Amino acid sequence: MNNSNRHFITTRLEQRRDSNLYRTQQVRTASVRPAQLSSNDYLGLAQHPRVKAAAQQAIDNWGVGSTGSPLLSGYTQLHQQLEETLCDWLGFEDAILFNTGFAANHGAITCLLQAHCQAQGGRIYADRLIHASMVEGMLNSGIRFKRVPHLTWPSTAQTHDWFISESIYSMDGDRLSIAQSRDFTEQSPVQWLLDDAHGIGVIGEHGEGYLGQLNQQVKLGTITFGKALGASGAAL
Ligand SMILES: Cc1ncc(COP(=O)(O)O)c(C=O)c1O
Repeated sequence: MNNSNRHFITTRLEQRRDSNLYRTQQVRTASVRPAQLSSNDYLGLAQHPRVKAAAQQAIDNWGVGSTGSPLLSGYTQLHQQLEETLCDWLGFEDAILFNTGFAANHGAITCLLQAHCQAQGGRIYADRLIHASMVEGMLNSGIRFKRVPHLTWPSTAQTHDWFISESIYSMDGDRLSIAQSRDFTEQSPVQWLLDDAHGIGVIGEHGEGYLGQLNQQVKLGTITFGKALGASGAAL
């Protein structure tokens, strides 16, 4: 590493320390208890005997690796069943699996929203506090975007524009109102991409999250399996 790069990195690290923003990894030496508040395993499913047994059985039947991309050999009956089950559960037409929620959000924006906005001249309105995966997606897509104040809706959006938000925001635990979301989407032409990472499994009578309750209002929804569902992976 040359001196100027080293200087840049040490200066930036010092700035973070000075602002109390410097974070370090903690080594975990045991399974997380459900009540641990820093964990996203909200329901303790990562330790549930049936979830663990299902994972073990899947490994016995299918092995541990995907063997390839989904378009080659990496798409199994298990993936197909999971996509169909999610659609039935949440009331959506179609689903596609991703290996992380980050990839699902990034993929949705850089592929689908980009193609749509380019073809139709739309732009993106995004809640100010959306997750980095969506911010990176917007930046990489090249689509024009505007941030809107946290937990508000874009009142000037037009047909072909998109609104991107989360349901529950994990850092502060604040959330969109389901009733207000319905009202807004009823009078706005905007198309909504909702990241329900922290709502799925937690909100709704059967854990169907915001997406299960707002499937008529939401055009594209993402969920991650890495939080209340206790595993890893994601779906769009
Ligand atoms: C709102 C939100 N969306 C997406 C993600 C990314 O999910 P994953 O950890 O599956 O990549 C997270 C994870 O922190 C998140 O909080």
